[in-house]
Amino acid sequence: MNLTDRVAVITGGAGGIGAALARRFAAEGAAAVVVADLDAAGARAVAEGVGPVAHAVQLDVTAEEQVRALVADTERRYGRIDLFCANAGVATEAGLDATDADWDRAWRVNVLAHVHSTRAVLPGMLARGQGYLLHTCSAAGVLTAVGDAPYTATKHAAVGLAEWLAITYRDQGIRVSALCPQGVDTPMLAEGLAAGHLGARVIAASGAVLHPDRVADAVIAGLAEERFLILPHPEVAAYARRRAEDPDGWQAGLRKLVRRLRS
Ligand SMILES: NC(=O)c1ccc[n+]([C@@H]2O[C@H](COP(=O)([O-])OP(=O)(O)OC[C@H]3O[C@@H](n4cnc5c(N)ncnc54)[C@H](O)[C@@H]3O)[C@@H](O)[C@H]2O)c1
Repeated sequence: MNLTDRVAVITGGAGGIGAALARRFAAEGAAAVVVADLDAAGARAVAEGVGPVAHAVQLDVTAEEQVRALVADTERRYGRIDLFCANAGVATEAGLDATDADWDRAWRVNVLAHVHSTRAVLPGMLARGQGYLLHTCSAAGVLTAVGDAPYTATKHAAVGLAEWLAITYRDQGIRVSALCPQGVDTPMLAEGLAAGHLGARVIAASGAVLHPDRVADAVIAGLAEERFLILPHPEVAAYARRRAEDPDGWQAGLRKLVRRLRS
């Protein structure tokens, strides 16, 4: 898929990776870019920066009726949605001390919101025999996020759901990509690093912390190839292979890195 004349919706579009995708999709010639986020002012600022093809919508991705309304309004306005980017996500930086409320929020934003948006957008895509779902997961979904149990578990679930969707709907014209970056220079990681969180420090020590525009480059390339796994950090493929082939060795290596960072 290329973005020329496409109608794209991006959740979590007010900042970081989502904002970079909005800018890049417009630059690639998208017909419309809907920037949706809990943060209404942030979404408006991004849409204004992108220009007339973009508009902002405030929504909470955990509220299914709001997601349904977003999809219905966009289809009414532009006639279709070609690409739905379920990109909003939350980290907790907590282990077993994470509260049930933390787990619930991570589950609702990182996983259930992908179910809700897919439920809403799929009928129109299936009727047209084409459509693209880009689900922002994380390298944490194919590896592990040290220091964040809810993030690790929910991002693994998000990759599992994306893979299930890809297998189930590919023959009906639906393409699915799971975007799995490692460190990206966005408020999510910057706040963790500023607070000295172990998880953020492990990410920073495990590879380059990319500018969100570099993630957008990888997305454009991945969509062009209609590749399932989009890895802005290519080394994540080698890490995942190592983890699959030798889980104990992989875990030992990660524990060693954690010990080094803690000392
Ligand atoms: N930054 C990284 O290092 C990194 C690495 C891998 C994956 N990711 C993933 O990338 C995605 C984007 O994150 P980012 O790094 O740009 O962080 P970010 O915090 O800058 O952006 C996340 C956006 O999601 C929005 N959001 C959160 N909860 C929402 C809700 N309930 N409804 C609507 N919007 C909501 C926030 O307002 C924010 O604008 C997330 O899914 C994140 O897990 C980030």
